Amino acid sequence: MVVAFMLMVTLCMTSSVYAEDVKPLKAAIYVDQKPIKTDYILKEGHLYVPALFFKQTGAYVDWNEKYQSVVFQLQNKMVAFPVGKNYYDLFNKETNTWTSHPLKLTAVKVNKKPFMPLVTVAKQLGMDVTYDAATKRTYVATNNYVEPNLFMHGDRTQKLVALTFDDGPDPYYTPTILDILKDKNAPATFFMMGKNIAKYPEQVKRMVKEGHAIGNHSYNHPDFTKQWTAKVVDEIQSTQHELLKVVGKKPDIIRPPYGALTKADTRLLNQLGLRNIFWSVDTLDWKGKTSDEIMEIVRRQIFPGGIILQHNFEAKKGELNGSIEALPKIIDELREQGYTFVTIQTLLDSQKRR
Ligand code: NI
Repeated sequence: MVVAFMLMVTLCMTSSVYAEDVKPLKAAIYVDQKPIKTDYILKEGHLYVPALFFKQTGAYVDWNEKYQSVVFQLQNKMVAFPVGKNYYDLFNKETNTWTSHPLKLTAVKVNKKPFMPLVTVAKQLGMDVTYDAATKRTYVATNNYVEPNLFMHGDRTQKLVALTFDDGPDPYYTPTILDILKDKNAPATFFMMGKNIAKYPEQVKRMVKEGHAIGNHSYNHPDFTKQWTAKVVDEIQSTQHELLKVVGKKPDIIRPPYGALTKADTRLLNQLGLRNIFWSVDTLDWKGKTSDEIMEIVRRQIFPGGIILQHNFEAKKGELNGSIEALPKIIDELREQGYTFVTIQTLLDSQKRR
């Protein structure tokens, strides 16, 4: 016990890692005028932010374990900052080689996470950082644009509505939902997790057979904003692969877990040909709301082109019972008001081009 403790102390002391037990502070940094809350530290008067912060600026950010370095990619530029080293590496695409350049402020590790000197990295990525002393705000002008490609609803002049279910499939709620939809002859869209598709492939086959649409909801449901770009790619592609295996097709729609995305994640989804689907009616069914409470939310938030969010995860404590009970009522009541139920693809395809 004592020996182990001594060893630990020695390891910590010999580690080249800076500020192992520094507690980062929190502030908003304005990225293209949008406040982004982030951890930061000040070291010798310089502002350092977590490497992943740069995903908010549109850059892909990855960790290279072998070289213990953070790799940034934006447009045609690829640049790597090894932790604790006084150089950075630039990739030359034509010669397929890396070249090292001297660096004043190096990447550091804080509580095991790499932190980057904000101004140094931003400059390398073609961005401008300014500090406004009057408001004490730091601004980053990213000088790059990413098409949001995000839909919270469809055309507001047509009385169409889309039912959507997240996190499934599961062995209880999914078949019950499918029975109700079949009975009511209403199509829906299911945003599914890869690991659940692998577990319950028959449910997915049934969805497709009965005319419902499918969408990607990642493999394990992580918050994309907190993951390296390569991990996000893996979460998306492994789910696409699972769907291809089970039903022979890949969707062109995704709903990111928690609706959380950075600018870099959006760039990635665009590159992968996936549209972001959010929602306009949040039933909050996962909180265990009753059928009456859910109906009230639907009545309050519905408008033409609406996208209704419900869930079909394996809710062992029955949290989704109210949601299931509300489903036939939602369908009947909205039809009475003149709404037609459609899949997300139909809802988006029906949008008038401007
Ligand atoms: Ni989810």
